[in-house]
Amino acid sequence: MERLQKYLSECGVASRRKSEELILQGKVKVNNEIITNLGYKVNDTDDVYVDNIKVFKEENVYYLLYKPEKTICSLHDEKGRKTVIDLIDTKEKIFPVGRLDYDTSGLLLLTNDGNLTNKLTHPKGNIEKTYYAKVDGIVTIKEINILENGVILDGVKTKKAKVKIKKIDKKNNKSYVEITITEGRNHQVKNMFLSINHKVLKLKRIKYAFLTLENMSVGEYRKLNIKEVKKLYSCVK
Ligand code: URA
Repeated sequence: MERLQKYLSECGVASRRKSEELILQGKVKVNNEIITNLGYKVNDTDDVYVDNIKVFKEENVYYLLYKPEKTICSLHDEKGRKTVIDLIDTKEKIFPVGRLDYDTSGLLLLTNDGNLTNKLTHPKGNIEKTYYAKVDGIVTIKEINILENGVILDGVKTKKAKVKIKKIDKKNNKSYVEITITEGRNHQVKNMFLSINHKVLKLKRIKYAFLTLENMSVGEYRKLNIKEVKKLYSCVK
């Protein structure tokens, strides 16, 4: 027996949190009865429907994508822009683990494993994400210290970060900075730099936990191997 929202996420319907919303919205039926109770438990012999469509447990799949700029991290886009899902040739109902902005490139995980997605994106997951940023102006050591110790965004201080200046281009008045954060707030890196009066001109995620973009080019993707999946699970134990 397992909770309905966990079952739905394991069927690849959505993350566990999104599945809870579907339940509360009355969209989920178990054997002919609409269930709106989040504590409800099902087993493998129950017939579960979302919007009157029967759902099945799928085999879990895990992809690492080198996201290009100008792609959106959602399942559909009202404006018809290309989504990250469009880039991956699979029959499974995968979704991105967290988000990168439309104009951000780099490492993105996609999976139909709602359980792992939940754990990785949970604030307590503390997963390290490293970005390479091209920034307007010359970033100083003092400013780096401010970023590392946390800045206030929307009234809440950011957690400690690791920040390294990789290159200063005095001639063009630009800086290249590597920043590692453990949170995933909206536009977090851009807003952290804005708080010290530097605009991020280009942003790329180069590392997610222990995973990197090694040997990959923009737009390419690969499946994670079983060792990598196990290691990701061990990161969020
Ligand atoms: N921080 C941002 O500002 N944008 C991203 O896409 C990711 C992290």
